[in-house]
Amino acid sequence: MKLQGSTALVTGSNRGIGRSLVQELLARGASRVYAAARDPKALAGLVAESGGRVVAVQLDITNAAQVAEASKLVDSLDLLINNAGLLGSGGLLSDSTEAIERDMRTNYFGTLAVTRAFLPAIEQAKGSIANVLTVVALASMPGLGGYSASKAAALSLTQALRGELGKRSIGVHAVFPGPVDTDMAREITLPKTSPADVAKAILDGLERGDEDIYPDAMAQQVGGEFAKSPKNVERMFAAM
Ligand SMILES: NC(=O)c1ccc[n+]([C@@H]2O[C@H](COP(=O)([O-])OP(=O)(O)OC[C@H]3O[C@@H](n4cnc5c(N)ncnc54)[C@H](OP(=O)(O)O)[C@@H]3O)[C@@H](O)[C@H]2O)c1
Repeated sequence: MKLQGSTALVTGSNRGIGRSLVQELLARGASRVYAAARDPKALAGLVAESGGRVVAVQLDITNAAQVAEASKLVDSLDLLINNAGLLGSGGLLSDSTEAIERDMRTNYFGTLAVTRAFLPAIEQAKGSIANVLTVVALASMPGLGGYSASKAAALSLTQALRGELGKRSIGVHAVFPGPVDTDMAREITLPKTSPADVAKAILDGLERGDEDIYPDAMAQQVGGEFAKSPKNVERMFAAM
C-alpha cells in the first residue's frame, strides 16, 4: 500500500509503538493521522508537531460508546492500525481470572470492536487493516499464558478477516513483534528493539504488501523457525 497521502488511524497512540507509528506515518507523508488514545490530552505533543495532520481521538477500545463515536469522525480510511494492547496477566494458573479476562477484552474483543466499527470507512477507501500481535501469538509463552491466549485469539481473528475481506479488496496484515523497548516490556530482560525501529519495519512491511510482518531480529528468527516447525517454537517458549 501507499502511505504517501494516506489517511490512517492508530489506536493506543499516546506512547510506545503507537506513538512511533504516528510519527513514522507523518514522516512518510500521510495526509491525516487519527491518533487515538484513552486520554486525548496525552496526544497534545503529537498534534503540535504534526502541522495540522494529526487529529486526536478519544478511544478506549473496550468502551462501545467511544468506539461508535470515534467511527463517526471518519468517512474513508486507508489504514487502520489496531495497536492498543494490554499485557495485564501472566500465568494462567497464577493470575486472577479478572486480569486474564481484561487482556482478552482488550486484545481480542477490543480489536474486533474497532475493526467492525471502522470497516465501512476502510471499505470506502479499499484500505488495509494491520493488527499488532506478538510472537507469543504463534505459540504460548507459559509465563505470559493469559496475554498469549488473547493475542492468539487476535491472530485467529486476523486470519478470519483476511479470508473474508480479501474478497472485498481489503488487505489484512498481522504484525508479530519480539520484545520492544516500551513500558509494556519494562520487566523483560531480553534484548529489545526501539519502538521507532519497529514502527519503521511495520510500515516497510505494509508498503511492500507483506501479509505477515516480523518487525525485528528476534521476530524474524521466531517467524523463520515457526515456518519450519511450530512445535519447535512451542518448545522454545515453554523453556523460557
Ligand atoms: N513492547 C513489547 O515488547 C511488545 C511486543 C510484542 C507486541 N507488542 C504489542 O504492541 C502493541 C503496543 O504495545 P507497546 O509495547 O507500545 O505498549 P505500551 O507502551 O504499554 O502501550 C500500550 C498502548 O495501548 C493502550 N491501551 C491499552 N488498553 C487500551 C484500551 N482499552 N483502549 C485504548 N488503548 C489502550 C495504552 O493506552 P494507555 O496509555 O491509556 O494505557 C497505550 O497507548 C500492543 O498491542 C502490544 O501487545 C508489544
